[in-house]
Amino acid sequence: MANELFISPSLLSADFTRLAEAVETIEAAGADFIHLDVMDGHFVPNLTIGPPVVKAVKRVASRPLDCHLMVSDPDRTAAWYVDAGANIVTIHIEASVHVHRTIQAIRDGGAIPGITLNPGTPASAIAEVLPYVDLVLVMSVNPGFGGQSFIESSVGKIAEIRAMCERAGVCPRIEVDGGIDVTTAPRVVAAGADTLVAGSAIFCTPDPAEALREIRRSATTRMV
Ligand code: DX5
Ligand code: ZN
Repeated sequence: MANELFISPSLLSADFTRLAEAVETIEAAGADFIHLDVMDGHFVPNLTIGPPVVKAVKRVASRPLDCHLMVSDPDRTAAWYVDAGANIVTIHIEASVHVHRTIQAIRDGGAIPGITLNPGTPASAIAEVLPYVDLVLVMSVNPGFGGQSFIESSVGKIAEIRAMCERAGVCPRIEVDGGIDVTTAPRVVAAGADTLVAGSAIFCTPDPAEALREIRRSATTRMV
């Protein structure tokens, strides 16, 4: 694997009245990124946070903000999140009409551009933009909610995207989001993922810090 393993806990499953505490806990436990799920009630059937909350989290976070935009109009709104302080802004290939332009705008604004795809979207859909992004987010659930079951075909898709990257001579981070826990983490890492998003497996436990460390251990311990 070319990139070191990163864990990006999703605040979606944290207590929204105590986000600062959640950030402090996961950063102390070794979180590499902080995953923020922006949902517009249109691209996905849920409504979560917008730029003011990203801005507020930015004030208390020391790790990079990994902002996942589940919105119908990222071409118009991605810049809001760059301006709010997101370090990584990931847009859905299904939602962007002028994808290269939006990726360039994210980069020009000083953030890292990422591309993501739903479980029903083939890997080939992102082939044209692979050379222009620094992160590919493979959705392993249909986006919208935390706590859903991992979709098995994601493992093959990660391997396919890793092979596409090798053929293209590029090495973006390959991040996986949805149903990641101590069982699925080692499997997606073996397939080529290097960045793991986990929400409920971290925050819906009595000890989120230990849950984060367990996910990292599960994905880095070699099976003999
Ligand atoms: C789902 C979001 C995820 C979510 C993952 O639409 O994109 O980031 O928080 O939650 P878990 O880890 O519980 O599947
Ligand atoms: Zn997400």
